[in-house]
Amino acid sequence: MIKTTDPSTINFKDKFSLDDKVIIITGACGLVGRSFVEACLQFGANLIIADIEISQPLNVAKAFQSRYPNQKVKGFELDVESKSSVLKLKDFAINEFIKIDGLVNAHQNKSHLIFEPFEDVSEDNWDKVINVNLKGTFLTCQIIGSYMASNNKGAIVNMPSTYSVVAPNQNLYKGTSLGCPAAYSASKGGIDALSRYLASYWAANNVRVNMITPHGVWNNHEEKFEANFSEFSPMKRMSFNHEVAPALIYLLSDASSYVTGDNLLVEGGWTVW
Ligand SMILES: NC(=O)c1ccc[n+]([C@@H]2O[C@H](COP(=O)([O-])OP(=O)(O)OC[C@H]3O[C@@H](n4cnc5c(N)ncnc54)[C@H](O)[C@@H]3O)[C@@H](O)[C@H]2O)c1
Repeated sequence: MIKTTDPSTINFKDKFSLDDKVIIITGACGLVGRSFVEACLQFGANLIIADIEISQPLNVAKAFQSRYPNQKVKGFELDVESKSSVLKLKDFAINEFIKIDGLVNAHQNKSHLIFEPFEDVSEDNWDKVINVNLKGTFLTCQIIGSYMASNNKGAIVNMPSTYSVVAPNQNLYKGTSLGCPAAYSASKGGIDALSRYLASYWAANNVRVNMITPHGVWNNHEEKFEANFSEFSPMKRMSFNHEVAPALIYLLSDASSYVTGDNLLVEGGWTVW
């Protein structure tokens, strides 16, 4: 790191560049994942778009590759619940790109059972949410994060939720078909704790571990939900996926070179009151 007190020697724009960096994004075909992919490509990164087969990561990668012919974009069919699948992802990344600079965990389980009331949640459903969200983040951090730590360089961005910071306001869901299950909150609380643990664990290895917490990202929600949300939100509206992605550029790039263990809330002030 440049040892100076003179800011005129620093190119601050360059600090946000992702030129030549190799970034792996899990859940990259999802609502927020897609905006992460677009933003990282605009900032110069090479990418692995990793997602389950049904989300068609290979086709999604091809479409992005044709729009960004001067960078390298590869798709990978990944199941974050499976250690062997994550090991294959690491081998694929090293074979294709030689190095890994960043890991973004943007996957989540979204079964329809997620809206079951707490009293009815089955063990299977609880396990599925915990396995995809929390164990999946553990496995990618363990396998890909350890690789970056062994090379003394890297950035990890995990995704907890406002519901690992505060409890859901149950009034938000009144008159809607939506809800927020306890397993989701529990899995996200685990991601928060795991991320802080790893931020300290790998700080000396120059691997920064941070979090982005989005909230209420609009995805053609039912009108009643959007109205309820606006009532409880200090900013009186839901957010958009393109409002989350700039936080990722900051946390993956040298712009945040002295930031680790942070949870950057992109939640319109939801938790300030
Ligand atoms: N959207 C929001 O309002 C919001 C709010 C708070 C936190 N988050 C978090 O942000 C992240 C992204 O959210 P989103 O809205 O884009 O979610 P999304 O449901 O749109 O996308 C999730 C992606 O994860 C993939 N996925 C599911 N199971 C997987 C598995 N086993 N292995 C690999 N990939 C798998 C899906 O195919 C999908 O592409 C999630 O972790 C979510 O919990 C979102």
